[in-house]
Amino acid sequence: MVKLNAEQLKAIQTQTRITYVDAGAGTGKTTTLIERVVKCIELEVEPWNIIVLAFNNKIVEELKKKFTEKVGIKRAEKINIYTIHGYARKVLANNVVIKKELLNEAVFEKFIRNSWSNFKKVNKIKSKNPKNAKDEISLVINMVSKCRENNSCIKNYDERYKSFYDAFKNELKRSGAYDFARIVKVATKYIPQSNAPQYIFVDEFQDTSETRFNFIKALVGNNNYLFAVGDEYQQILEWSGVKNVNVSRLKRHYKQELSIYKLTYSYRLTPQLADISNRLLSFISDRKTTRKLRGCNNSKFTFDTKKFKSQKNETEWCVSYINELIKKGVNPKNIGVLYRNSNVIDQEVINTKAHCSTIHKAKGLEFDYVILLGLEDGVFPSKNSNIEEERRVLYVAITRAKRYLAITSLNDCYRNGIYVKGSSFLKYLI
Ligand SMILES: Nc1ncnc2c1ncn2[C@@H]1O[C@H](COP(=O)(O)OP(=O)(O)OP(=O)(O)O)[C@@H](O)[C@H]1O
Ligand SMILES: [Mg+2]
Repeated sequence: MVKLNAEQLKAIQTQTRITYVDAGAGTGKTTTLIERVVKCIELEVEPWNIIVLAFNNKIVEELKKKFTEKVGIKRAEKINIYTIHGYARKVLANNVVIKKELLNEAVFEKFIRNSWSNFKKVNKIKSKNPKNAKDEISLVINMVSKCRENNSCIKNYDERYKSFYDAFKNELKRSGAYDFARIVKVATKYIPQSNAPQYIFVDEFQDTSETRFNFIKALVGNNNYLFAVGDEYQQILEWSGVKNVNVSRLKRHYKQELSIYKLTYSYRLTPQLADISNRLLSFISDRKTTRKLRGCNNSKFTFDTKKFKSQKNETEWCVSYINELIKKGVNPKNIGVLYRNSNVIDQEVINTKAHCSTIHKAKGLEFDYVILLGLEDGVFPSKNSNIEEERRVLYVAITRAKRYLAITSLNDCYRNGIYVKGSSFLKYLI
């Protein structure tokens, strides 16, 4: 049971209809959100009148457990806890027939490929150079992914792509197919008619796309309450159309109804890791708010950088280090093995039972021990990526650690057949 600090208490006692808590990693945003829900229940808000929208299913499960501890299973079961997409799907289930779902990346991409190839046939478009077909299709997939979540992205593309995008939308409708965005967009239309909860809580608000923000706005309407928490520096979904405009959008839309709270102290980070994070943050230059972390976790902390001459050596070290920790009595759940891209992780590491996941999927989570694999150029930062966003991904990665952080890289050798060197990102950390 944590004792909330003065800043957290102030946020919990907010009196405005729309509240945003804007704060860095590990400062207790999610904790504060949970305590505000508990407070609402104490003030006799009915649990079914509360909805908590979380970033992914893992956090949904964690929240369910936490609420059960705090308000008892009977009331916790009545609180609506969903991902945005999960709740949108529930709203839809009562209203429309979903003929086909495009929720798996490969299925979605295949649909786009087919649609693009039909479009080219119908419009007699020939690729200028067949060798470029691969680049062309990745551009098309990229464009569709972005525009689905943020319609205004379409303005960056030429007429041909614009008309393809219209054709793509028609094809979705015609075939009764739903991608993530369509589920949310169509559900948005049905919200006013459904009996929506009045107290709306949103975790990881910085990664809310335009499509998802419209959904939240519809839920909030003119009378309901919104309590959102986020950290612009942890916004890592720009590739899917999320722009650094979340707070300004709240300000623009809710004006004087909005109040903003800050949290200063990171309970997850030790002062040493807060210093390393602050150095990294100073290289992220495209955010509007400022972020300086003050670590107040006083555990002993170790920061390790490991260089290897082969992936085999990296895997051996990783497996033996994890096994050593487990032998010492550390629960594997408290060990996170994180990576930018899943092609760097070896099955042997997965078999250790540590929590192995991409950094994107680890957002909001924390581990006593974190091993971050593959700090190499082309791997992390990944190839052809937005470098500012990659820095934010690195910030998310290192700020998962409570007691131990190791960063591994292969140097002057091959990873998956590609020659790699230590990442240029290492200079931000050491
Ligand atoms: N007032 C407090 N006293 C002690 N520990 C706290 C306090 N507030 C939060 N914590 C602890 O700090 C850790 C981080 O909290 P939490 O996950 O809520 O932060 P967050 O801001 O949501 O992080 P992230 O940015 O990664 O989502 C948790 O272990 C939590 O229990
Ligand atoms: Mg959180």
